[in-house]
Amino acid sequence: MQILPYAVVVFMSLSHQLAQAQDGVLDLSALQNYANQTKPTYITRDNTPPNNRITNAGATLGRVLFHDRRLSRTDSVSCSSCHRQERAFSDTATASVGVNGTTGRHSMRLINSRFSAEAKFFWDERATSLENQTSQPIQDHKEMGFSGTSGDPAFADLVTKLNAIPEYRVMFTMTFGSTAITETRIQQALSQFIRSIQSFDSKYDAGRAVADDGQPFTNFTAQENAGKLLFLNPPPQGGAGCAACHAPPEFAIDPNSRNNGATGNIAGGTDLTNTRSPSLRDLVGPGGQSNGAFMHDGSLATLAQVINHYNQIPANNTNLDNRLRGPGGLQNLNLSQTQKDNLAAFLRTLSGVNVYTDEKWANPFNATHQLQVIILPADAVTVVKNTNNTATILCQAAPNLSYQLQSSSDLITWDDILTLAADATGKIERTIATSEGQQFYRFIYTLPES
Ligand code: HEC
Ligand code: HEC
Repeated sequence: MQILPYAVVVFMSLSHQLAQAQDGVLDLSALQNYANQTKPTYITRDNTPPNNRITNAGATLGRVLFHDRRLSRTDSVSCSSCHRQERAFSDTATASVGVNGTTGRHSMRLINSRFSAEAKFFWDERATSLENQTSQPIQDHKEMGFSGTSGDPAFADLVTKLNAIPEYRVMFTMTFGSTAITETRIQQALSQFIRSIQSFDSKYDAGRAVADDGQPFTNFTAQENAGKLLFLNPPPQGGAGCAACHAPPEFAIDPNSRNNGATGNIAGGTDLTNTRSPSLRDLVGPGGQSNGAFMHDGSLATLAQVINHYNQIPANNTNLDNRLRGPGGLQNLNLSQTQKDNLAAFLRTLSGVNVYTDEKWANPFNATHQLQVIILPADAVTVVKNTNNTATILCQAAPNLSYQLQSSSDLITWDDILTLAADATGKIERTIATSEGQQFYRFIYTLPES
């Protein structure tokens, strides 16, 4: 409470939840920075569509959806069950556990998904965009179970379920300007969150910041520099040719790649349809720990096994990329053990540190899956007394939401003065005339009806 000359008293009121920053509390008046993160100047590839640029509000909503188990039929599986932050948003299990069985392919890392010329997603590129991808796990009978078939509830039932949760009505309004929950909006928010997941604090980035890829990096060991050259150079020049399909500095997949000779299927048989790879950044964690097995079938457990695979492509198939066919048939690089070790050492320089723990991508729910949101913090109001018998009330609230300014002379009867919308940064500002005598003011937030 703040008292001014002329006895103007302004205080904030909150019709929703008041809480201190703690586990399971999300303060919508102090959003994390997703929209304006710094990225290195050498990163140029970007698959963000013009109609779904990242906003702090949208990525925050996406974060909540991503970690919310209520997006599954049984309230037991969230996106983050199979895409775990501490594993670069992948899973150490070869097949991940959904609401009704296990997945047919290995879960993919979601690091730097945005920074790619390839705009299609999934190992077999069946999703035409990230937006198109993000609602598919929800509608998958095995993964989250809102398939509308096989006795499952339909996507419309999930919309009804989310509509009954007041926090979602608030966050959809904050992001999209109205309470309506639709599949498109869910896709957009989840995509904004995933595109925000970036990792550029690797040893490779520290070297790349001051030298081009072809030059030795001064922060690299001789082994790492030798491995970098093997990665970059094509086989006729004594290299391993990796950059042809996983080009630096993004290390995202070449959109024209066909399959790489990994043709297994977790359920048995063969699968020649896989032509996409996540970025080769963060293959292993910063301490070298495994983020899970490699390839769509999880058939290669270690970097050494990956390198052996490319050293000698095991078998031909009709969809094998021509770049993996050598002069006399299948690629045989004849790498020495030292060269293989060098290449593995280079791949390990591509791992960042911050992305594994940064709170902005972490689970906002507490241990019992509860989440409270702060919409209008009690202490966020400032009153500035002006010279001309006016005072300016400033408040930091949740962006884009509407708040009612009310006044009272006796703290009993309150009159609406006007409705004010916070701007995109959450600021509400109003100048009022001050007068002799006592007048009280407050802001009110009212939860939208479903
Ligand atoms: C039961 C485990 C499971 C759940 C739950 C799950 N995923 Fe996945 N995710 C996978 C698997 C497995 C793949 C690879 C599937 C394929 O390619 O056929 C994948 C692939 C992806 C990809 C493609 C990445 C790329 O680089 O192509 C994205 C994006 C993704 N998931 C996001 C999500 C989102 C968003 C949710 C929640 C709405 C979610 N996932 C829920 C297991 C899961
Ligand atoms: C012709 C294109 C091509 C070339 C050349 C190539 N790759 Fe790949 N790479 C792919 C494709 C396609 C996949 C996805 C394969 C799958 O899972 O079916 C892949 C997957 C991978 C993966 C697994 C990623 C994950 O998330 O599981 C690693 C690691 C990898 N490649 C490293 C390399 C290295 C190291 C080289 C050089 C020795 C190399 N690649 C050369 C196309 C290529």
